[in-house]
Amino acid sequence: MPQGEELTRAAYDTVADLYADTFTATEPEQPLELAMVDHFVALLGHRPRVLDAGCGAGRMLPRLAVRGCRPHGVDLSPEMVRRALADHGAYPSTVGSLTDLAFADDEFDGVFSWYSTIHTPDADLDRVLAEMARVLRPGGHLLLAFQIGEGVRDIGPGFAAHGHQVTLLRYHRRVQDVAPRLERLGMPVVARLERGPLGSEPDPQAVVIARRPTG
Ligand SMILES: C[S@@+](CC[C@H](N)C(=O)[O-])C[C@H]1O[C@@H](n2cnc3c(N)ncnc32)[C@H](O)[C@@H]1O
Repeated sequence: MPQGEELTRAAYDTVADLYADTFTATEPEQPLELAMVDHFVALLGHRPRVLDAGCGAGRMLPRLAVRGCRPHGVDLSPEMVRRALADHGAYPSTVGSLTDLAFADDEFDGVFSWYSTIHTPDADLDRVLAEMARVLRPGGHLLLAFQIGEGVRDIGPGFAAHGHQVTLLRYHRRVQDVAPRLERLGMPVVARLERGPLGSEPDPQAVVIARRPTG
């Protein structure tokens, strides 16, 4: 396991209940990015199998299911997965790393990464994207959501007011940094959204959809 993952897992294990109780559904999302989720689902075909890669406490699993997907969650943090199973037990969720997915090649019609690559350092990002591409069937789609920006930030201090002392590094990227990595894997970007921060959000947000070619 890459060293950074141990820190990320420890942080999310610590804040899992706070996270799950604060975000039970799509409270932080704007209609614009939820429209990208709907567009992603529409690209996948009938009753698609979707890997919610970095599902956290599982709040997006019902959102995918209500649109007709058959979602399976996977997350690094056993405590986040415990809450996913407790709160959204209608859907399977398992503990695992995005750097080494325990799924067969071509197993999913879609891979959905909703703010889950944000803790992956640049040096490990290609490996994570390659794993996501590997488990996608030819013609399948990958969605990535992330905060736009540059550099790394420790967002751990944000949890101190809630009594949690954690270190949690968040890597900010631009769409033009991510798209070439996908294209090098043979996955052209087929949709992209960039929007400015709204309300108390400090950062602009991006959603990118890429397609695994059929031939
Ligand atoms: C910001 S949370 C988002 C969770 C969920 N997608 C949501 O929107 O509520 C990031 C999640 O990604 C998971 N994660 C980060 N790096 C991971 C990795 N390398 N493998 C698996 N999960 C990872 C964390 O454990 C955490 O639950």
